[in-house]
Amino acid sequence: MDKDRKRKPRLVVSTGAGISAESGIRTFRDADGLWENFPVMDVASADGFARNPELVHQFYNERRRALRDAQPNDAHKILRELEKDYDVYIITQNVDDLHERAGSSNILHLHGELMKIRSLSNPDYIEEVTEETMATTPATRGRNGDLMRPHIVFFQEAVPNIEPAIELAQSADIFVVIGTSLVVYPAAALLNYVRPGTPIYYIDPNPADVGGVAGVTVIREPATQGMRTLVSMLRGGEAGK
Ligand code: APR
Repeated sequence: MDKDRKRKPRLVVSTGAGISAESGIRTFRDADGLWENFPVMDVASADGFARNPELVHQFYNERRRALRDAQPNDAHKILRELEKDYDVYIITQNVDDLHERAGSSNILHLHGELMKIRSLSNPDYIEEVTEETMATTPATRGRNGDLMRPHIVFFQEAVPNIEPAIELAQSADIFVVIGTSLVVYPAAALLNYVRPGTPIYYIDPNPADVGGVAGVTVIREPATQGMRTLVSMLRGGEAGK
């Protein structure tokens, strides 16, 4: 039997804050941006954490509390349902766990994970954040007594998962970009790594200009509606089957 005939097309998806907007989580560059009048470089940079770890822990605990009240929306759920027909891999700039809670199988976080903290002295020691952890600020300590930091890629820090993300983009039969302003690199460059001729779909109600990239179909809709439009396009045999 030709096993290739049984191979599901690989659908690689790059998501940004916009996919979580309809779950009530504000995006970074909206007018009332996520930074809640904290200067970005005070709460999301390596220098900021070195200067005032208590402030940074407080900022991330506030984001964790907001995330606890949020639920995955239909865009997250449709991505999970596409696993029936596609080999779906999600590369996300988001640090929320909504893709996980929607049940997606393959998720690669480029900018870290909000619900995790890691040891300052041993980066391989990572803990899930609990109610108790959230309550103990300023400098959260792990169960092993280590001083901890958010398991987040701060500005000024390298993006350790960018290599596997590039490999995923290069392996895509179909590449989908959802809800990102494409201003933060290296994540924004991923769509340049897809193989020539790979169909690209960009779902965003206010999309960035991707004129320079061949083969992009822009779906100028919010993520939940845009995912339904994408599914009907894919079902229409428009791509990748
Ligand atoms: N559905 C889809 N997209 C939406 C929706 C929605 N309902 N609402 C807003 N958007 C789009 C906006 O038009 C914008 O293009 O989501 C995008 C959000 O862009 P940003 O706020 O810049 O978020 P993102 O691109 O994920 O930021 C990248 O920047 O601040 C850093 O590390 C942070 O991961 C983040 C990175």
